[in-house]
Amino acid sequence: MNKNILIIGNGGREHALAWKLNQSPQLGRLYVAPGNAGTKEWNVPIEANDIEALLAFALAKKIDLTVVGPEEPLCLGIVDVFRENGLRIFGPTRAAAQLEGSKAFAKSVMDAAKIPTAQWRAFEEAEPAREYIRKKGAPCVIKADGLAAGKGVIVALELEQALQAVDEIMEGSFGLAGSKIVVEELLEGQEVSLLCFTDGDTVCPMVPVQDHKRALDGDQGLNTGGMGTYTPPPFWTAELQRSVLQTIVEPTLRVMRERETPFTGVLYVGLMITEQGPKVLEYNARFGDPETQVILARLQSDVLPILWACTERRLRDIQIDWLKDIAVCVVMAAPGYPQAYAKGISLRLPSTLPEEGMIFHAGTAWEEGRGYVSSGGRVLGVTAKGETLAAARKQAYALVEKVGFPQAHYRRDIGLKGLK
Ligand code: AMP
Ligand code: GLY
Repeated sequence: MNKNILIIGNGGREHALAWKLNQSPQLGRLYVAPGNAGTKEWNVPIEANDIEALLAFALAKKIDLTVVGPEEPLCLGIVDVFRENGLRIFGPTRAAAQLEGSKAFAKSVMDAAKIPTAQWRAFEEAEPAREYIRKKGAPCVIKADGLAAGKGVIVALELEQALQAVDEIMEGSFGLAGSKIVVEELLEGQEVSLLCFTDGDTVCPMVPVQDHKRALDGDQGLNTGGMGTYTPPPFWTAELQRSVLQTIVEPTLRVMRERETPFTGVLYVGLMITEQGPKVLEYNARFGDPETQVILARLQSDVLPILWACTERRLRDIQIDWLKDIAVCVVMAAPGYPQAYAKGISLRLPSTLPEEGMIFHAGTAWEEGRGYVSSGGRVLGVTAKGETLAAARKQAYALVEKVGFPQAHYRRDIGLKGLK
């Protein structure tokens, strides 16, 4: 029987999920709440955090499976509420989503399972944090404890900068997220993300992805939600994957089961591959953005049965196939992002796409009379596949050139580290 699906969120990740689910032979009706201009044929005007309205909608439309994109509704407990009402939903419960919702919680799980990560301390007040930083010295990393859309992290190379970061977080530059602060040792190496489907017991890793977090070429500038991705990074090996699954992913899920808050959905581990081996930078409790764009571009299997199996502890029965191609996603952002940026910029999109290319919408809206306009910081995720990384990059940047968005800020070096 065909299944009615509701996707929650409005980013590039959700457009990619909608694009992929729309290809499923098992799909009934598709809805995206609230979606963006890329998903406009499926959009429902309900905000991602309005759990009550989403629940009422899902009940009324006989939604068979809800797929949650962003972290906020997960941390607010949307999965718990839907399940209590007899609805099937893909994602972790509120308790399990704390792996992303609180960096101090995540660190406590890593310590319990002896998972390799940066040395850390959490503080609730500024002065003890400052004292600790003075003692440890720079470089170090200062993080707001709670959700901050990937922006609540300051990598401080100088002591002064680290002390200033404490003040900024405590003064509430990141909203409530900053009521607690985590100070970490700086890890060095290649950064890579491994996202895994899990039903709480079984783990199916997706293809590994390298994101580009900083705003500017050469990994300069501020941290952002992610300026571009490619998969797979050339340094990733079967042995590295085995080690990450054995020393990080499996122990994380075991601790979550032991605490009676099993984790289901997508467990995203952000890793630094250091000289001593892989160490965890962070967990996310959901698909990444813009990781999902390149992952789904390479997913050969139907995604719907995979998501479904995760909700009924049947993931071990599922076979997942991936394309060999390399995929690259270049984010085109509004000028100014990740700081203050303009909205409502007109966008002209190419009327046809090359076979290996796809433009995923993120912060876009459709205005009668004007057409596509920007409505957020990260506006488009221009994605392409190729047989080699060089070919995929070339395709992606050629497609970027075809987009009418001359003010766009984007990085020219997405995937470049993979060629070196
Ligand atoms: P997070 O939100 O914790 O992943 O941090 C965002 C980004 O900050 C990461 O993707 C890294 O690029 C950087 N980062 C976070 N923690 C560390 C660390 N301990 N050492 C070096 N870089 C870090
Ligand atoms: N691109 C990083 C994230 O989704 O958290």
